[in-house]
Amino acid sequence: MKILKEFHHFKAGSLGSERVSHYERFLLDRILEKGAKIPDNKRQNSMAWELKHHASCVQFARLFAKKRGLSEDVCAVGMLLHDIYAIDEGEYSNHARLGGPVAQEILDHLGGFDEAERTLILRIITEHSDKHIFSNDSYSEFGKDVDVLDCFLYPEAFNFYLKEKPPNKLHAYLLRAGRINADLGLPMDKRFDILKSYQPDGKWLACYACPTGVEPLETACRSGLSLAIVAGTDREVTILFPCNEEDAFRTAFDATGRGCVLSTAPVMPHRLQIIWPILGLYEDVSGLAACSNRLQNFLL
Ligand SMILES: [Fe+2]
Repeated sequence: MKILKEFHHFKAGSLGSERVSHYERFLLDRILEKGAKIPDNKRQNSMAWELKHHASCVQFARLFAKKRGLSEDVCAVGMLLHDIYAIDEGEYSNHARLGGPVAQEILDHLGGFDEAERTLILRIITEHSDKHIFSNDSYSEFGKDVDVLDCFLYPEAFNFYLKEKPPNKLHAYLLRAGRINADLGLPMDKRFDILKSYQPDGKWLACYACPTGVEPLETACRSGLSLAIVAGTDREVTILFPCNEEDAFRTAFDATGRGCVLSTAPVMPHRLQIIWPILGLYEDVSGLAACSNRLQNFLL
């Protein structure tokens, strides 16, 4: 028999023996103290995001751990610390791998987990960015799925991924989000229909050249394509082409006689429209550096 206690509500000094609660309190203090030393305008994220995201991920972790038969405590601490590097530094570049040693220090400091559990926690953290890799590792996949679930519940997140992710990674995010929705028995968002046009060979669409004198945005919308890019320099424009295959770039540019392959391009486009016709969304990119960055992104 154990004595019935009141819930601690994370008040310092009253957490008791439940091991995860110590990590939860620790991380809140860490965000508010160490994280707050970098203001929002110097961070890729915001303090508000880190406070909200880690907390909801921990609760989803508990839910998914129960559903998938995984260790609830391992999953909770894994998600609690999965973005620890981004919390501390305000940077997301390679934050999953860089978060490993930071998490190790925290595990050493707070204790409570044996070697086997620590290995699983660290795997959740260091592999959670590899959303495009689908493995048989239930803990690694769990971490990726929970992160995607939480992010996709924010209404604007879908557009963020359209804008920020290269096509293969975008596909992996959408695929995961769609599977999680189905797994939870939730109705499918119509926007996920773009997944139907992603081909196993990595193409999103068929090659398409926009006739001269036709408004490219309008044409793309009428074409039924899922994704198109219009590229142009100051003098010349309008080629729509598949986005993630270098040969397709070559074909599209050569067909008009006005462009060339990006890797050897003497003329990099000065402006781009990246268009998602069936979503009714487009992105304008202008300037050589921005076009170059965005196209490199699509070529990855
Ligand atoms: Fe995350």
